[in-house]
Amino acid sequence: MEQLDQTLAAIAAATTPDAIESLRVAALGKQGWVSALLKTLGAMSADERLVAGPRIHAAREAVSAALAARKASLEAAALDARLAAERVDLTLPAAPPLRGSIHPVSQVQDELVEIFADLGFAVATGPEIEDDWHNFTALNMPETHPARAMHDTFYFPDRDKAGRSMLLRTHTSPVQIRTMLAQGAPLRIIAPGRVYRSDSDATHTPMFHQIEGLVIDRAIHLGHLKWTLETFLKAFFERDDVVLRLRPSYFPFTEPSVEVDVGYSLIAGKRVVGGDGDAPGGGWMEVLGAGIINRAVIAAGGLDPDEWQGFAFGTGVDRLAMLKYAMDDLRAFFDGDVRWLDHYGFAALDVPTLSGGVGVRA
Ligand code: PHE
Repeated sequence: MEQLDQTLAAIAAATTPDAIESLRVAALGKQGWVSALLKTLGAMSADERLVAGPRIHAAREAVSAALAARKASLEAAALDARLAAERVDLTLPAAPPLRGSIHPVSQVQDELVEIFADLGFAVATGPEIEDDWHNFTALNMPETHPARAMHDTFYFPDRDKAGRSMLLRTHTSPVQIRTMLAQGAPLRIIAPGRVYRSDSDATHTPMFHQIEGLVIDRAIHLGHLKWTLETFLKAFFERDDVVLRLRPSYFPFTEPSVEVDVGYSLIAGKRVVGGDGDAPGGGWMEVLGAGIINRAVIAAGGLDPDEWQGFAFGTGVDRLAMLKYAMDDLRAFFDGDVRWLDHYGFAALDVPTLSGGVGVRA
């Protein structure tokens, strides 16, 4: 059957679904040659039909099978082509260029959290919009207390439902009160976050960052505080020769209170933390406020001061960042200048860990 050979050859040569479809119509369609042959069977004698019938049916089967096979192989080839074109190599490393960087304040906060987590401290938070009870009164600063005036507070015009003045928190210390009230004792927390004071020059911005530390337990004393701060500052500055000097000071919420200095030496005109500040060419620089928590504050936190004692400390995160990474103008921190961020920012994948070095810079 010449037509069968031609059709099979054409099917084998077809390269598109459309071509296959028109070959199917030409052979098996109503007007197709196979259909035409099938129609001739009716006019045949029984003997003729016995011979021609199986041949025509076999031809129809052969064409159908060839069409199906060709269609399948074209589809397989198309799939292969797509798989090759759309292939993704999952073994490739995440490729640079990475855009953007981690702000030094975020980086230093992450470093601090890492260091204190290793000492068993959990992270606590509180609202930036505070009331004057949490920000002042509960911290042993009643309404007439002169320390309130020193905080250059941003007040809101309206009071809250309880009649308390609302303000932007001036320090992270209200988180002490909130955490004591919410969690009771014992406690070991740090509270990093934004704070606000109406103040602005090269070393003061209206918004800046503090980190608060709070430990509440039984029989806590200044030795625990000093050891904790020394351990933290050595880990943060990544040197063993950090020397602390505790100076008596005053905070309403701690008694006794200390200001903590670290020794530095001048290297190429820059203050580099480490060594005895009294050594020639050295000096002391204040980095922290701290103290044993005032009994009135423990009581405001809902705890019995005869049973629970504790220490607290607070420090400026931005200041720590400036010291560690040798930056000299705080205002640049909040300008959002991409060139500054490119220079001082940290690579997004450079997550601080104690084992890897908390301050490694890419
Ligand atoms: N809240 C104080 C400040 O902002 C810092 C501080 C915290 C001092 C905890 C002592 C204890 O200056």
